[in-house]
Amino acid sequence: MSISRRQFLISTAGVAAAAPFARLLAQPRFDRNPFSLGVASGYPRPEGVVLWTRLAPEPLAGGGMPAAAVEVAWEVATDEAFRNIARSGKELAGPEWAHSVHAEVAGLEPGRRYFYRFHAGGATSPVGRTRTSPADDAPEPLNFAFASCQQYEHGYYAAYRHMAAEDLDLIIHLGDYIYETTWGRNLVRSHGTGEAVTLDEYRNRYALYKTDLDLQAAHAAFPWICTWDDHEVQNDYANDRGQRAGSREAFLVRRAAAYQACYEHLPLPKRMAPRGPDLQIYGRWNFGALAQFHVLDDRQYRDHQACPRENFGAGSNVVSAASCPELMDPRRTLLGARQEQWLADGLSATRARWNVIAQQTIMARVSRPLSGELSGEKGYWTDGWDGYPRARARLLEAVAGTRAANPLVIGGDVHTFAACDLKADFDNPNSRVMATEFVGSSITSQGISAKTIESWRDENPHIRYINSTRRGYVSMALSEKRCVARMRAVDEKNSASPVTTLAAWTVEDGRPGALRGG
Ligand SMILES: [Fe+2]
Repeated sequence: MSISRRQFLISTAGVAAAAPFARLLAQPRFDRNPFSLGVASGYPRPEGVVLWTRLAPEPLAGGGMPAAAVEVAWEVATDEAFRNIARSGKELAGPEWAHSVHAEVAGLEPGRRYFYRFHAGGATSPVGRTRTSPADDAPEPLNFAFASCQQYEHGYYAAYRHMAAEDLDLIIHLGDYIYETTWGRNLVRSHGTGEAVTLDEYRNRYALYKTDLDLQAAHAAFPWICTWDDHEVQNDYANDRGQRAGSREAFLVRRAAAYQACYEHLPLPKRMAPRGPDLQIYGRWNFGALAQFHVLDDRQYRDHQACPRENFGAGSNVVSAASCPELMDPRRTLLGARQEQWLADGLSATRARWNVIAQQTIMARVSRPLSGELSGEKGYWTDGWDGYPRARARLLEAVAGTRAANPLVIGGDVHTFAACDLKADFDNPNSRVMATEFVGSSITSQGISAKTIESWRDENPHIRYINSTRRGYVSMALSEKRCVARMRAVDEKNSASPVTTLAAWTVEDGRPGALRGG
């Protein structure tokens, strides 16, 4: 759909004298809401936060904006009525970044709630709420939720409606924010288009997901910190290679398009703007003296999966250690050498009471019984940490060696709730617990069968709790003395679904390992 004159009366008269780039500035008058994708904030610091929106009067058809930059004003206030403006400013939203805005606000007070909104072309956005993080030495308690895997066609975002109603400081997204393609059964709504490959297709896919009002509500309620998994680009991709072996160059063009659309649709700081196919999304964020978040990227820098299926030549597989000796190659890495070192350095330097390692997938070993030719052997899924066992051992050794206080791993990807003890040696039931892991289910994405989950439970006693039958998220309450993880479940087929707490697990300060109840 092209942009019609009906939708825009573009006048540059008002700004022509002001700046050398004025020629490029458009002052549209919108006759459709340009804030159709809502507002968001992210990456809180004690003195500031990133504010996000994207002008898109026709969100599902490329945005519907002119090929010119538009001035967007923003305001941050201490009250919802915007009587006390704490900070305000202007940003240029240009076509090169899909008219997205990433305003980096500074000069705010630590540990405080703020309200924000945008103005463009006579239109005003909905009001968002956000919160700066506490001062670095403040021991304030922290409430956050984490989410992952939100296949739009599989269900409604009731989980986000309930998340938005909680009293949180932060939401962490662990990946699969979009799905590039349609899959699954009993779909409740449709992407309306096929697999996303080009920049325009990824932009329209993000826009579709972001038109969901429950997702918008969760963004407007709290600041987010995000990382990604595979479906932001393609199922099972690894570094410079897609799900099937093919042209490296073609795949990197696709990755560049996918990363760009991701940047354009999330409240990422400007320094994360991609350069070609590269975007550094991993990083470290403090929440006062209480918590430090070490947010990882296990997709962009990883070695290719070991022993792929023959007919694909790439991507994941389930193999036994005997049938795939490459699995144990100590050179193999899931994070890349540089990120591994960065994490080890961060764990050495941290003084936080809780160290949250936020990453994509389940870190605990999940050995599974094999059938057929390999009957009697244990199988390992090569796309997750089980495909990189020596890299996992290095990470857990770094956790133990640095004595980083209270290491907590959070993960997603496997569409199941889990609480696990991360051990030095998963084969030895008496081996020391190095860290505690909580895995969130999916927001909507369909889960693994209960029968498969039963077999995992039997083989892996370090998985203390596992439930794949329900969709939802995990709500975390951290204080100096303990962390409580509540597994919050909804019926994703019912947009008005209530929420229930399926299970609660506690970790006591100084005692790694999950305890039932809380
Ligand atoms: Fe997923």
